[in-house]
Amino acid sequence: MDSRLFIQDLKKPQDFHEYFSKKQDLVLDLGSGMGEFAIELAQTHPHFNYICVEKRMPRARAIAERIDKRSLTNIIVIQTRFEWLIPHCFFHNHFHTIYLNFPDPWLKAKYSSRRTMTTKFLNYVSDALILNGNFHFATDVDEYAQFGHDLLEDHPDFINQLGPQVISKEPPEIQKTLFYYHAQNDNIDSNFIHFTKVK
Ligand SMILES: C[S@@+](CC[C@H](N)C(=O)[O-])C[C@H]1O[C@@H](n2cnc3c(N)ncnc32)[C@H](O)[C@@H]1O
Repeated sequence: MDSRLFIQDLKKPQDFHEYFSKKQDLVLDLGSGMGEFAIELAQTHPHFNYICVEKRMPRARAIAERIDKRSLTNIIVIQTRFEWLIPHCFFHNHFHTIYLNFPDPWLKAKYSSRRTMTTKFLNYVSDALILNGNFHFATDVDEYAQFGHDLLEDHPDFINQLGPQVISKEPPEIQKTLFYYHAQNDNIDSNFIHFTKVK
């Protein structure tokens, strides 16, 4: 038995503050893997509440076990596909920060429509973020980084927090995720993108 949540546990829309004993700004980590990144953040930044979303059962279970083992009360994990969660369960103006770190890049042209970064997805992100909320996107695929960056630059709700047209090759200290280290071990540079919702 662990503390994973499932899509059927959630209201439509869901007030995620209900899952935490302290009402604090909400941070969403889409595609959390084994949760190293969000768990580290939950420990080092206890004044935020964290929501991990991971579709794979063994990974979501591992996150839940780690949360339980550390008795963390400011982080939960939902085992689901985020494209199921986002349209149904998101409240407007709800999240302080949303991370999309190293999503599957779907490199083959015939699968490129499966990529997460689309204008429709960014519309959901914008709707879900509070004003001045943050969207972080990281990838080790340069072409995907440029594509995502261009979608964000063209989107009327966002401005580039790093400066016009800037994609950083340097991770913010807190954003060194497992897949960042995998890429580094393969001598592949990663790309870090940070936009803020301005309207
Ligand atoms: C490449 S890993 C990156 C993990 C972590 N964010 C990191 O940077 O180390 C991508 C993760 O996203 C999960 N994932 C992919 N598509 C997803 C979706 N539609 N909904 C939820 N999780 C998804 C995968 O199962 C995998 O664990």
